[in-house]
Amino acid sequence: MQNNDNSNNKMLSEIGSNFWINPNEELKDLPLGTPEQFGCKGNDYVWLSTGRSAISFAIKAIEERNPQLKKSAILPPFTCHTVIEPFLNAGYEVHHYLINEKLETSADLILQCVKDNDASIVLFHRYFSFNTVKDSDLLCQELRRQNKYTIEDCTQCLYDGASKSEADYHVGSIRKWQGTPDGGFAVCRDGVFHNKPEQTDVPLEQAKIKASFAKYKFLFDHEGDKPTFLQLYREAEDILIAQEDFRAISATSQKMQSNLDVSFLRNRRRKNFQTLLSGLANSKNVSPMFDHLGVAIVPLYFPMLTKDRASLQAHLRQYDIYAPVVWPKADCLGEVCEEVEYLYQHLLCIPIDQRYDADDMNRVVETINNYNKI
Ligand SMILES: Cc1ncc(COP(=O)(O)O)c(C=O)c1O
Repeated sequence: MQNNDNSNNKMLSEIGSNFWINPNEELKDLPLGTPEQFGCKGNDYVWLSTGRSAISFAIKAIEERNPQLKKSAILPPFTCHTVIEPFLNAGYEVHHYLINEKLETSADLILQCVKDNDASIVLFHRYFSFNTVKDSDLLCQELRRQNKYTIEDCTQCLYDGASKSEADYHVGSIRKWQGTPDGGFAVCRDGVFHNKPEQTDVPLEQAKIKASFAKYKFLFDHEGDKPTFLQLYREAEDILIAQEDFRAISATSQKMQSNLDVSFLRNRRRKNFQTLLSGLANSKNVSPMFDHLGVAIVPLYFPMLTKDRASLQAHLRQYDIYAPVVWPKADCLGEVCEEVEYLYQHLLCIPIDQRYDADDMNRVVETINNYNKI
């Protein structure tokens, strides 16, 4: 079963950045199944090429059912540009609900924002798999009563053991969790989806595979060079960004997803998170965003706050540790409150995915704690 583990092949020194694909791994022909594998149950679903197109697909479905809908939406204030753009592209006025410095919000705060802006759609999401949206079921029920629509973006909590909310639509991107060339989904609670795409994006799939094989060959077979595979990833991402029509999930992504060893993924991510938490709980350089890993949580990253993020990130890079900023503040996002601005400036993530083990995480801990310049 595919698990991206590198423990049999410990030549790897870098941590983070794009997932590779092992060209020597043979995958079985298994059915992809439905998004119920992420706890997203509904009356109908569609597999698509990206999470952003899944959001657009949900918006389109809502509008088909309600052509008179006022084009006003409420979104998280701390989010990815790919969450905001589908609404802007569909002509929506966008407002943002409040969150605090721990990334938390509540049904009450979101409902107030809906009322203030007479919005018709709310997209909400949890962060890094932690339950940061209090009373999300009550929120969905109340908005349904008001004939308004809810979309839960599950991208960051795909493998979380707790149930997803009662939203009208669930959407997600699967490629943050393993190296599939593409992949997203939308699920609707009621009714059915029309015009599901059948065509996949073959040039995108091929370009991603080429980049992911080149990275594997560089890391494990010492073939090729880093600038070349980085350029290949950029070219592949440009194809994805340029996608205009809805596309179905590629054959390679279907195969990788159906072969994924989910229990390995869950265990590794949880263990890696715990290793970082014990090593960094009292660090002088960083403050972990979450200080407790609940039983059902399967974290996407290890998010932490640090005073001088650029400097720590550069220090980590010197040791081949690539800590991403999730997310840079989107150009299309307006002004946000002080707490959110702080998160955009100071939050840094450590990759904890199934490619890595305790040795890798201990190396991260040492590298962070030995840094003396913050
Ligand atoms: C919460 C969330 N939703 C959706 C997306 C978009 O996914 P994709 O890159 O597959 O379009 C992202 C991307 O980072 C995301 O973080």
